[in-house]
Amino acid sequence: MSGRWWGVAVLLLAGCKRDAEQSAAIVTGGDPALGKAAISRYGCGSCHTIPGVPGATATVGPPLQALGQRTFLAGRLPNSPENLMQWVRHPQELEQGTAMPNLDVTEEDARHIAAYLYTLR
Ligand code: HEC
Repeated sequence: MSGRWWGVAVLLLAGCKRDAEQSAAIVTGGDPALGKAAISRYGCGSCHTIPGVPGATATVGPPLQALGQRTFLAGRLPNSPENLMQWVRHPQELEQGTAMPNLDVTEEDARHIAAYLYTLR
């Protein structure tokens, strides 16, 4: 194999993180960078461990690592962009009595938050 192929392999590897961000943005219509900032603002890290979010190391709720690979959200909702945004905005309506409170997340912020969470694989 020629040296050229190694260059291609390195480029592909370097592109992986970028790909995750792009496909997360495409399926949600949100911006992962804005989502990360919103996660800090809403204080999600006071209950969840969330990779890449400074200070988000709590263990009250489930860790959100690899969220993009989950089959179900909160043990019951099929993991889709629409359900994830709904859950982030209205957990109490979707699962009465869950320990996750409604945090008055706006529709726009939920979109960005979902974009960030789907970069976690
Ligand atoms: C007061 C603690 C608390 C806060 C604050 C909180 N959550 Fe949660 N969250 C939970 C708990 C507890 C669950 C598990 C709910 C269940 O399975 O019934 C959960 C579940 C989730 C899930 C589903 C995870 C899975 O493994 O299925 C997501 C996604 C999520 N939270 C995102 C967020 C986001 C985004 C924020 C900030 C806007 C947030 N949470 C704020 C407690 C919290």
